[in-house]
Amino acid sequence: MKHFLSVNDIESLPDWVDEAITLKQNPYQFEDLGKHKTLCLLFFNNSLRTRLSTQKAAMQLGMEVMIMNFGSESWVLEYQDGSVMDQGTSEHIKEAAQVVSQYCDIVAIRAFPDLKDREKDEAEEVLTGFAKYASVPVVNMESSTGHPLQALADAITLAEHSIKPRPKVVLSWAPHPKALPHAVANSFTQMMKLQDAEFIITHPKGYELNPKITQGCQIEYNQEKALKDADFVYVKNWSSYTNYGKVLNQDLNWTMTQQKLGQAKFMHCLPVRRNIVVEDAVLDGNNSLVINQAHNRTFSAQIVLKKILEAL
Ligand code: CP
Repeated sequence: MKHFLSVNDIESLPDWVDEAITLKQNPYQFEDLGKHKTLCLLFFNNSLRTRLSTQKAAMQLGMEVMIMNFGSESWVLEYQDGSVMDQGTSEHIKEAAQVVSQYCDIVAIRAFPDLKDREKDEAEEVLTGFAKYASVPVVNMESSTGHPLQALADAITLAEHSIKPRPKVVLSWAPHPKALPHAVANSFTQMMKLQDAEFIITHPKGYELNPKITQGCQIEYNQEKALKDADFVYVKNWSSYTNYGKVLNQDLNWTMTQQKLGQAKFMHCLPVRRNIVVEDAVLDGNNSLVINQAHNRTFSAQIVLKKILEAL
């Protein structure tokens, strides 16, 4: 594997999940693999989990880690070919990606969408720009349209907590005051399509995700109906895809409550707005897996870095 850009770069989801669960028993088993190798983490946006878990994963593989808040600390990058750079951009992605490649063996990038221009966001100019011009492998730490490290951590969490061979998993939209990206919901959906599970997506009308991603998935606009007999409920807000980037609905009737959750396990990628997305009783209850998911971020990143290091 050269780059890890999307869920499609997971060569075998069950094998990677099994390997991650084994690795958890002995996280330093491959501590020589990354010796004298450097990972560069470039953040164009904020992070808590991704930054710390990816750094920890690299350290457990014996790697050195360099971190840069690229969005605020570096030059403003230009992405257009042939552009006359007489405006706000100072350095072209062509040089920047090649320069970063001189200092590390793997580069990982977080770059969120603007949620203003769908075509531009779907072009993923930061991630694909680095993948095109860097001479080292590129890892997606959440881009405009995907968060595959989160989806892999979620797959590990599902595997660890499933008590039946074909669980019912519901992805439920929730209200949020701000317009949020589709990346987590997209990657979770792509990952669920690789699982043997009954998978249902529920959201208000107008919040349909990219139909290319949800193709073949069951969509139910009635949240109560969707949640019936669920084993796992993954809650996430996203903005409208068709009315791109807009907040169409803030109906708190979609907030996840203990009553709606019933006996199901609760999942969320975090950060989460309490008592808007989900009520306290759920997050603080015994059926919440959110800290397990956050813990598994280390092992999803470690599996990905291990696969890349093995292929270097
Ligand atoms: N879930 C997740 O990616 O968390 P951060 O945004 O804090 O990295």
